[in-house]
Amino acid sequence: MGITGKLTALQAAFAALIAFGTLVPVWMSEQRYLADLETDRQNAEVERFARVCSASPKADAATPLAYLQTMVLVAPPGSISYAAFLGADGKFLLHTDFLGGDRTLAGKPALGEGARRAIESPSGLRQPAGKPGDPELVSSPVFYSGAKRVGTALIAYDSTWLDASAKRLRSDSIRRAAMVALPGLAAGLLAALALGRALTEPIRRLAAGAREVGRGKLDTRIESASRDELGDLAREFNGMAAKLAELDEMKDSFFAQITHDLRNPLSATLAYISLMESGAQGPVTDAQRKSLRIMEDGSLYLNELIGNILDLSKLEAGRLDLKPARVDLKESVSAVLDLQRARALEYGVALESRVADGAILRSDADGLKRVLMNLATNALKFTPKGGTVTVSHSVENGFDRVEVSDTGIGIPAEKIGQLFKKFSQIDETRNVVRDARGTGLGLVICKQLVEAHGGSIGVRSVYKQGTTFFFLLPRGEV
Ligand SMILES: Nc1ncnc2c1ncn2[C@@H]1O[C@H](COP(=O)(O)OP(=O)(O)OP(=O)(O)O)[C@@H](O)[C@H]1O
Ligand SMILES: [Mg+2]
Repeated sequence: MGITGKLTALQAAFAALIAFGTLVPVWMSEQRYLADLETDRQNAEVERFARVCSASPKADAATPLAYLQTMVLVAPPGSISYAAFLGADGKFLLHTDFLGGDRTLAGKPALGEGARRAIESPSGLRQPAGKPGDPELVSSPVFYSGAKRVGTALIAYDSTWLDASAKRLRSDSIRRAAMVALPGLAAGLLAALALGRALTEPIRRLAAGAREVGRGKLDTRIESASRDELGDLAREFNGMAAKLAELDEMKDSFFAQITHDLRNPLSATLAYISLMESGAQGPVTDAQRKSLRIMEDGSLYLNELIGNILDLSKLEAGRLDLKPARVDLKESVSAVLDLQRARALEYGVALESRVADGAILRSDADGLKRVLMNLATNALKFTPKGGTVTVSHSVENGFDRVEVSDTGIGIPAEKIGQLFKKFSQIDETRNVVRDARGTGLGLVICKQLVEAHGGSIGVRSVYKQGTTFFFLLPRGEV
């Protein structure tokens, strides 16, 4: 997860924690408040009813009855199961059934447990529902003009209705809480995203810059006007890149100097060796000629080694100027094989090109020739008399595949991993077929060149039977 993602998640967690920590207690106290409000409402309702009953002489039930009618009418539909006025003896003096004309209960004793307890309770009763659906009883004692208690006013609320009403209130308050919390959360997330972007953008630019420097573009600089730690980091980075460029320049001029200093005397040595061999400076004995050959061989080897080390260091620094273009593979292979023809004749090895006409590759022409040259030289070096070296081409999953196979000495399976490593030469192959010199850098250069083209290089080999080196180059626009 990137920094932006982490910051957003962290901010979201904080926002959720704050919302949870503040909204839950508020919500819980609101629930308590609403429950208390409902209790107060019910108590006040039964109190009012009791007062109406106590204001009426016992015989005249018309006023309480009218009040009862109004009370039931204004109450939320379905909320009151029944309401009644019980005499001190526990018999019904008034009941909501009377409103519909049903007076069966008049003068009858109230038999329910709740009603009995309401009559016995000195200050009234609030009895929570037993089972779901049981009425919830609220009662208040009734006194006629301060005299002794003459009865009990009783209201039974439908507990199912009460539950539904509580549920409605709960979901209402959850909705209200969500309306407060969600915009806050969304704003928090947006702020986190913006903050993450603001923080990661300079880091991303730094990372891109470091990548470019890693690729060898040492003139890369990062623009940053900010005065904070990230700005400091960018300025430090620029300073470091400048220093690196300086060092790189020093290294280049050092290399140029060294090559010059090494190559010049080498060229002179080679020229004098040729001069002496030609006999222009006097007759040369066979023993001297032999010594001159050895000197020439050594000088040529040194020349090659210097050239390879220089090229490799350029390739590794990404500074070898490659210009991918349309290259006719058949022509390149012919040119390389033609250069090897004399040596192949000397070794008694056949050279064969199986590249079809019109095979076009996208590659740097010199780079391609260099890869082909090293692979063909290796194949020749390690193939005994009577063998064959074959170059072929095919197209495979959007890649051009070029193979250089030989019927030579092969490479032991456990040594394959050592190929493509600097200066690695396999003991089992060295000077087995014939004495042949090498710097041990050819395959490393091939690998660098092929990879610089976005391709890959590989090998298949069977020890004592032959080897096939192949490389794949992306076809792209050719
Ligand atoms: N076709 C092959 N058959 C058998 N062994 C091979 C073959 N090609 C390469 N090798 C082994 O891999 C080693 C490394 O090859 P590489 O081309 O890198 O170096 P080199 O040929 O020894 O020297 P250079 O190419 O630098 O002059 C060789 O020395 C040889 O041991
Ligand atoms: Mg080689």
